[in-house]
Amino acid sequence: MNFPDDLNPQKQAQILQPCVRATIDLALNLKQLHWNVQGPNFKPVHEFLDEIIEHARSASDELAERIVTLGHPAVGQRVSLGDATVPTAEDTFVDDTNTLHHTHTMLESAILTLRKAQQSLADIDPVSEDLVISILADLEKDHWMVRSHLK
Ligand SMILES: [Fe+2]
Repeated sequence: MNFPDDLNPQKQAQILQPCVRATIDLALNLKQLHWNVQGPNFKPVHEFLDEIIEHARSASDELAERIVTLGHPAVGQRVSLGDATVPTAEDTFVDDTNTLHHTHTMLESAILTLRKAQQSLADIDPVSEDLVISILADLEKDHWMVRSHLK
């Protein structure tokens, strides 16, 4: 693929890679919470988490494929990614309210990573920026829904 001279696909790939990492971490840590949630609201929280996980997984796939579209390999193996970029879920049972608090914090962290990338992409690649914006729309809606449970 030929890009106009003013585009720098290498730079875009570098900006997008942390978003891949953040959405993979989000999906993995939310799955941990999905399995270990306990309490009176187990079922709705358990099922709600899977909806958010699906958004995160789909996001990491789209972001990784955008990197490859730009001509670079995507890095998605957890072992290659280094330390987790979202707050890590503990390997234990968590009550339903605390599960929502953790989910809120994790989403916030991933959203901040994507917001930062969106700003960096704004002037150099509207296509990559548009992808990040569409993912942010889903994750920020999820963030609102989680927040609403905690009022
Ligand atoms: Fe499940």
